[in-house]
Amino acid sequence: MKKIVTILGARPQFVKAAVLSRVIQKHDEIEEIIIHTGQHYDQNMSEIFFEEMQIPKPKYNLQINGLSHGAMTGQMLEKIEVILQEEKPEIVVVYGDTNSTLAGALAAKKMDIKVVHIEAGLRSFNMKMPEEINRIMTDRISDLLLCPTDVAISNLEKEGFENLNVKVEKSGDIMKDAVEYYSVFSSEKSTIIQDLEIEKENFVLATIHRQENTDDIQKLIEIFKGLQEINSKCEVVIPLHPRTKKILIENDLMFQMTAIEPVGYFDMLELLKNCKMVVTDSGGLQKEAFFNKKPCIIAREETEWVELVSNNFAKLVGSDLEKILTAYYDFSEAKLDFSKNLFGKNVGETIYQSILKL
Ligand code: UD1
Repeated sequence: MKKIVTILGARPQFVKAAVLSRVIQKHDEIEEIIIHTGQHYDQNMSEIFFEEMQIPKPKYNLQINGLSHGAMTGQMLEKIEVILQEEKPEIVVVYGDTNSTLAGALAAKKMDIKVVHIEAGLRSFNMKMPEEINRIMTDRISDLLLCPTDVAISNLEKEGFENLNVKVEKSGDIMKDAVEYYSVFSSEKSTIIQDLEIEKENFVLATIHRQENTDDIQKLIEIFKGLQEINSKCEVVIPLHPRTKKILIENDLMFQMTAIEPVGYFDMLELLKNCKMVVTDSGGLQKEAFFNKKPCIIAREETEWVELVSNNFAKLVGSDLEKILTAYYDFSEAKLDFSKNLFGKNVGETIYQSILKL
């Protein structure tokens, strides 16, 4: 049996890890031990994902959260190292671009444990984003880089990865498997559409949490003004990330729209399936919109998922009020063909086989 340690800590990582854990359990050839760094910790930011998606219970929960980037990453590094010394895995698996990703990869690599990075090669080319720094650092010290798209592969080629003694493979996007598998359960179990008394195909789903938007109050105000304006035409439902909520309250900012607490994965899938379009600064939600055949307005200056924009499924609007509204009107009229396969298929199984061969 191969022994792997999976390191996760933030909401999107729970969704991705759920897919691979399910494949691992099906095959029974790998022993997986999960470390939860505790970066996301509220019941509705963490526990609900483990319950709904039946992710195996983490053996370790480090409860590291609410700190500055340096303190968070440093504490994670220290605690993960102790666990890896104890567990002695052959492989450590990390996902995406969070502080938990970087801390996990760094701790493992310095102990000569092989690192697998799922969602490798993505770049926004914006070095002001903490996520971009985490991605670049993690990719550089990984042994197996599993890329979701051709663009991700070509980003790594441009950075010279073909000259390194590492494996770079295209796996497709693991979030696609999650949407396909859990959609059946969400329609049975979620009652969010009835609970919120919203009309199918007649509301806009929004999420805003990126530090580049929340830390610049002018940007945040512009984005929320845009959402409020949209709300006067079509109800906007926004599950509020704790950081965004805190900043809105601290600055006494109130906007007209349907703000709710963060939702679990099943509720999110039902909101996605039934909305008219999505406005977001999240990386994951951009693709989840596409998988659910919904246009997406991206409240950022750039995206790692450039194929969504080049194929006109999404528009980049930054925090520009006019652009947000123009995109809303354009997408309200548009008839888009979502049949294109941009993100692969059977991704969990592909990733599993690659890890097995490492
Ligand atoms: C992190 C990731 C980002 C990912 C996002 C998904 C980094 C650098 N960023 O950002 O890549 O897109 O997760 O959501 O790792 N908080 C709570 N309750 C919670 C979770 C967070 O109150 O359950 C608070 C934290 O204490 C903190 C703030 O929200 O003050 C932001 O959380 P943080 O862990 O810094 O990262 P995210 O912004 O969520």
